[in-house]
Amino acid sequence: MKTIADQIKEISENIHPSLIQIRRQLHQYPELSGEEFGTSAFISHTLNEWGIDQRTGIAGTGIMAILRGKIPGNACVALRADMDALPIDEQNEVEYCSKNPGIMHACGHDVHVSSLLGTIKILQQLSDEYPGIIKCIFQPSEEKYPGGAIRMMEDGILQNPEPLAIFGQHVCPSLPYGKVGFKPGKYMASTDEIYITIKGRGGHAAIPHQNIDPVIIGAQILVALQQLVSRESDPTIPTVLSFGKFVANGRTNIIPDEAHMEGTLRTFDEMWRHEIHSRIGRVVSNMAHAFGATCEVFIDHGYPYLQNDESLTQAAIKNAQEFLGNENVVELDLRMTAEDFAYYAQKIPGCFYRLGVATTNLPFPPLHSAHFDVDENCLLTGPALMAWLALKKLNPSLK
Ligand code: NI
Repeated sequence: MKTIADQIKEISENIHPSLIQIRRQLHQYPELSGEEFGTSAFISHTLNEWGIDQRTGIAGTGIMAILRGKIPGNACVALRADMDALPIDEQNEVEYCSKNPGIMHACGHDVHVSSLLGTIKILQQLSDEYPGIIKCIFQPSEEKYPGGAIRMMEDGILQNPEPLAIFGQHVCPSLPYGKVGFKPGKYMASTDEIYITIKGRGGHAAIPHQNIDPVIIGAQILVALQQLVSRESDPTIPTVLSFGKFVANGRTNIIPDEAHMEGTLRTFDEMWRHEIHSRIGRVVSNMAHAFGATCEVFIDHGYPYLQNDESLTQAAIKNAQEFLGNENVVELDLRMTAEDFAYYAQKIPGCFYRLGVATTNLPFPPLHSAHFDVDENCLLTGPALMAWLALKKLNPSLK
């Protein structure tokens, strides 16, 4: 008698060629955040062909597929894939290269969608093995604030019934295919966008005493703000404050009226996050006023930090080791990047993990690069492991 784990692996091998086709189809027609109309129609059509119940049009292009197990019971688990692509012109010379100029699946969300479809296909064939409901969430707009997660939650996807847990995965180009990575507890940072304008008084650069120079004031403010990170933040709470834009549009002999700065704040504690917002305002406004300028500070709140549930993630590590072998399950470090999966994990126990997509021993282009691609053997691991994690959550005694 075959174990369930063996049955999952067998189904996974059988559907692998069709999942590659699905992934390449999605890869050729990437769509930007909130505009995933073709992607959504494709997913919906596929689910219909397979006879899977679904709700469409959630938060615009979002879809929730619903699987029902045949064992009596009303437990529920949720699985999530994001659907959107990035404004990048693909530079890969592959037959399945993006056909939408300037748009590319450079963050692997095509893999997330095809993998979740594969998981659905596997679970559909194993409906005798679990009780309750599995909600499979295809989420729009992960790459763009305010993100699709919060809007899908507002639409009630985590209610009636409320899932015991939610799992999400993300491709990882620094891990070879066949391997996965987990991090219990804090995993990814919160992210906020900082916009600062220093308003001085422009004029001739040769008569500085008659102007209020926003360039030198802005420069001092940028340096002073780093002191919030080095001296005012608790060293045990990782914090990053980076400014990638400083525009003061004068000339060699012109002091401009204004200087504009834009940056990002990343950290791992909600109290500190809100505290440093007010300290940024304090430093900017006091320094601007000290030199006779005025200022505007706008902080656009992005995603919260992502907390993986400790016990759910420890159990997932154990289950993944059992399914893939200890050598194929690694522990991850903290990341300062952000994910709107964090909203789900604030509401119910969540586990967001990484799927290896690199070819063994080959250097792989990073996420968000025009050369990003995956080794499609990752579609043997991704769908199967997620199916296994869902089944083990609903029926822990499965072998
Ligand atoms: Ni991504």
